[in-house]
This record gives sequence, C-alpha cells and structure tokens, in this order.
Amino acid sequence: MTEAAQDLPPIEEVFNPHSADYLENPIPQCLALAQRGRLVWYAPWQAWIMTRMDDIMACWKTEPLSSDFYDWEFAPKRPPEEEWSNFERALIGHSLLADHDHHRLVRRVTAPAFSRNVVDKIQARIEPEIKKLFDALGTPEVFDYREEIAFHIPFISITRMVGIPEKYWPEIKQVITTFTETWNPTISDEQRESARQDSNRAIDIIKKVIDERRSAPEQDDFLSTLLRIEAENEGFEEGDIITLILALIGAGADTTLVAQQWSVYALLKNGRDQIAKALATPESFSNAFCEINRWGVSSKMGFARYAPRDMAFMGEHLRKGVMVLMMPHLKDHDPNYFDNPERFDVERVFEPDAMFGYGPRFCIGAALAKRQLYLSMTELFKRFPNVELAEEPERDAGDHNAVVFKRLLLKTNVS
Ligand code: HEM
Repeated sequence: MTEAAQDLPPIEEVFNPHSADYLENPIPQCLALAQRGRLVWYAPWQAWIMTRMDDIMACWKTEPLSSDFYDWEFAPKRPPEEEWSNFERALIGHSLLADHDHHRLVRRVTAPAFSRNVVDKIQARIEPEIKKLFDALGTPEVFDYREEIAFHIPFISITRMVGIPEKYWPEIKQVITTFTETWNPTISDEQRESARQDSNRAIDIIKKVIDERRSAPEQDDFLSTLLRIEAENEGFEEGDIITLILALIGAGADTTLVAQQWSVYALLKNGRDQIAKALATPESFSNAFCEINRWGVSSKMGFARYAPRDMAFMGEHLRKGVMVLMMPHLKDHDPNYFDNPERFDVERVFEPDAMFGYGPRFCIGAALAKRQLYLSMTELFKRFPNVELAEEPERDAGDHNAVVFKRLLLKTNVS
C-alpha cells in the first residue's frame, strides 16, 4: 500500500451502493471509488473492482477471466451430472456463460437470428402490444408508469422475440421476474431455490414450445430461426437453444425495467427540447439512451467475472475463484471523461459507446432494447404531450443491482 493510500479512509466508508446516500446521489461515491486506483479491493463483496474504461474495454475484448458463475469461489457447489435438473443442464451443461470457445460458437452460429431482418419483424410485433398497454390505460389524470407500463414491457418483448405462444404466457410470467435470482449472490438460499424451481418449470414450458414448433410451420421468430440453425450446425443443440432463451430472459428483463424507468424520468427532468431531439428518430433515441444511462447512474454493481486460476492480473495477485467486477458507470460523471458531466445532452457524442458491452459478449438484445424503449417513449409522449412527473419519485432501497423507483407517478394533463 502506498503512503497516500494509508492516509485514506477505508473504501467501504466512501463507497456503499446499498446506502441511503448512494440511492439519493451515487455520483460522489462513484468518483471517490475510481480515485482509489485501477483495480481496487472491496472487502464487503470480497471482490476486485475495475474502475477504468480502457481496462474494462480490454477485459471485454480479450476475456482473460471467466464469465461462469460456477467458477465463483462462493457459488453453490456444482452438483454431479447425474443429479442435474433441467436448470443445471441449461446453466452448466451448455452454458452460454461457460467456456469461451463454446460461447463463441453459439454466438457465431446464432448471429442470423439477430439479423436486421429478424429483429425488424420482432419489433413489428411488439409495437401493437405496446399500443394495447396504453389503450388499456386510457386517459387517467395520474398513473404509475412503472406499474401500468414499464413492468409489462420485458415480458411482452421477450415472449414476442422468442415466439412463445400466448397460451403459455401466464405460466411463464413468474420466471421472467425471478430468473436472475437463481444466481444472485446477495439473496437467501431459500429465495434462490424457489427461483430455481420456477426456472425448472419454465424450462418444461420452453421444451413443450420447442416440440410444438418442430412440427409446426416455420414462423419469423427467434425460436424458428434457432431450430433451423440447430439443424444446420454440428455442436449446437436443443440445450443451447434453451440456455439462450433463459439468457434472454435473464439479461433482458431487469435491464429493460430499469431502462424504462430512467428513460421516462431523465426525459421529464430535462426539458421538452431534449425530448423532441431524443425522439426524432430511432437513431437519435439510440444516442439519447446512452445519455439517459450516463446521466442517471443507475448501476450499483457492474459486470462480474471470476479468476479461472491463481493468477497475476493488472499488477495484483488474484486467487482462484475471486470475483472481479467491471464498473463502467464509475466514469459517467468524471470530468476527465465527459465535459460538463452534470449537463444532460441527448446529442452528446459517445466514443466508445459501450452501454451494451463490447467484444464477444456484446449484448444480444441491444437493438431490441433500444427499439422497445423508443416505441414506448414515443407512445407515451404522443398520447400525453404535456405529461409531467406528479411527484419526485421515491427510490427503492430493495433493489440490489440498480437504483430504481418505488413508483413513477405521472400527471397526464389531458383536458
Ligand atoms: C437497456 C437494456 C439493456 C442493457 C443496458 C444491456 C446491457 C448489456 C451488457 C452491458 C451486456 C454485457 C454484459 C457482460 O459483459 O457481462 C449484455 C449482455 C447480454 N444481453 Fe443485454 N442489455 C439490455 C437489454 C437486453 C435485452 C432486452 C436482451 C434480450 C432480450 C438482452 C440480452 C443479453 C444477453 C443474452 C447477453 C449476454 C451475451 C453474451 O454473453 O454473449 N439484453 N447486455
């Protein structure tokens, strides 16, 4: 430890994303943490934190660390194969998260499923569903955007994207909200187990849907595309399809819910000219969303990786299994990265634009996420051009991963 570092207060005193102060204003804590160095040990999480964007980009690109939750030193023990339920089979056996070579194979062979053409068709199906949500809402004086709209969007887009028929929606709805709990290190074993059981039920439904789709004519959705890819590619099997669908649920549900809330909040806090510029085209919204995300600083943790063995890394010794968290959001209000970081400007230039990750694990749902947000924001401001916040929303301390709101009451000002 350097002399200067010895004079500093312990890190947990300057950075605690579960504190009330962080919830109200995370910026000072993020800046204070970033000042501690490139790779900082954070004892409360028993994890190293990567604070600098160039290091994070390099780590995303070259993958020196493992992305497999089961490589974490505190993960539940990997059960023997004969005891695997569908859940372990999906998450261990064919995991998209697991070894880099298999991951790259899966991403390469599934790339056609995310082609512009397929994504456009999926988006065309989501749009009427979003309109239906607003139709059902009607024209109340005040409503909770989180409850009435945001909460339903991840479910709509994921089921539409994958191609899960409506008859299965009630059964599968539960798992979309609990799936990420199956590997959440911060909750109880009981809660994780209950989420695991939900996931097993969801896998049964996904298998049923796959069986039905195998005998039904092909449709323009993700599942049909994946079944064609399965038939054409050695080494890509039904287990990979199930894992991929679970990954979409896991990675696409919470992120969308957070993004929905912050998009509405940030746009309403920053003036009508910003809203008009943001919603001018899907492309302008795409950039605006980077700014919404930067300005809001909603992350609490970051992206986890694990040391695959005892190893030297960025000048430190990592013990096997230790967690390393990449935290790109620490830079978001750093004046060395962004001029006037407190100013909200939807035309700000982002280089690099790494909101959706980078390299081999770049977000599969990026195009879909941005389009569904654009569609919802456009619909909101079209139906209620004078909408405003009905109150300053209270933040919800119960969410472990992100700063979110308990409710987001909007006054529609419709006459
Ligand atoms: C605004 C919403 C979203 C944001 C900000 C976001 C961001 C990200 C980021 C940063 C990563 C890289 C994570 C890492 O390196 O560990 C990622 C990965 C991923 N995202 Fe998203 N995402 C969003 C929505 C979605 C949606 C809607 C889906 C699917 C329907 C999705 C599916 C995925 C998947 C499957 C991965 C893992 C890719 C891989 O490991 O190859 N995401 N996302």
